[in-house]
Amino acid sequence: MVEVERVESLAKSGIKSIPKEYIRPKEELESINDVFQEEKKEDGPQVPTIDLQNIQGAQKASMDWGVMHLINHGIPVDLMERVKKAGEEFFGLPVEEKEKYANDQATGKIQGYGSKLANNASGQLEWEDYFFHLVYPEDKRDLSLWPKTPSDYIEATSEYAKCLRLLATKVFKALSIGLGLEPDRLEKEVGGLEELLLQMKINYYPKCPQPELALGVEAHTDVSALTFILHNMVPGLQLFYQGKWVIAKCVPDSIVMHIGDTLEILSNGKYKSILHRGLVNKEKVRISWAVFCEPPKDKILLKPLPEMVSVETPAKFPPRTFAQHIEHKLFRNKQEELVTKKKDQV
Ligand code: OGA
Ligand code: NI
Repeated sequence: MVEVERVESLAKSGIKSIPKEYIRPKEELESINDVFQEEKKEDGPQVPTIDLQNIQGAQKASMDWGVMHLINHGIPVDLMERVKKAGEEFFGLPVEEKEKYANDQATGKIQGYGSKLANNASGQLEWEDYFFHLVYPEDKRDLSLWPKTPSDYIEATSEYAKCLRLLATKVFKALSIGLGLEPDRLEKEVGGLEELLLQMKINYYPKCPQPELALGVEAHTDVSALTFILHNMVPGLQLFYQGKWVIAKCVPDSIVMHIGDTLEILSNGKYKSILHRGLVNKEKVRISWAVFCEPPKDKILLKPLPEMVSVETPAKFPPRTFAQHIEHKLFRNKQEELVTKKKDQV
């Protein structure tokens, strides 16, 4: 296994300036501002807060923003607190302890403790470590890979995953109705109870000595059908809305919900998968718990549903499996990088 530098270790080493691999390209630096200043801004569009009882509100926000703070989501707040406490305690362990759970991306062991490996020529890295594992369906989990410390981790996370699975069904129903489809249609299209996978990624963003130069997660859209996110009330998430980066304020007891590429494709672009990224800061560690609800990798050919396609609104996405969709995005990013490099050389 290759030695990987953990961002946490780097952060704790006392460096005053960050290694060049973490410095964003100059065009991107222009838009990276202090996250606490950003959070104070009152002007401009704000990520909508949606009461899940208000189905139309959820449908509208999914078409406009593709992301929202969900309230009245039905998940017990004390359970959310237990999940967060368990993750915080796990990440509170020394790095050497966490290394026992290290993933090994080279051999395809993607579950466990990890940090981004440079996957492109520029060697660009992100200011975060993470823990990634499948949480649902239960017969597909590998509990031997989950944190053993703290002792409540497995129980709290399992219970939370069950609740999220029910919440996902409610949301799929509301979104199906929003497209004029049968209520159970979207859930079926992404694999139903058997095949839809819920994957948990705990994002751990250490304090960063030069937050104006780095990103915790670079700009991306989620490939999932839906993503549900908890966080430790430290701001960081930004959404690219109407050509500007908008910070997500911290809304107590809410769950951030994203529409991912999968639903954008099925709905032929009616529901939006919004570009987003994560800022870091000097003062506070930020942690977020993202659960990605994903269709099976190869079994389903994702494409705009026939009801969403007409002469006036032709299909905006070619048919691809989930795996092919991910491959296509990686390929496209590599192409873009080549183009940028060429520009730098002239
Ligand atoms: C992600 C993500 C944002 C956050 O993990 O895909 O966008 O708030 N995270 O940590
Ligand atoms: Ni994301």
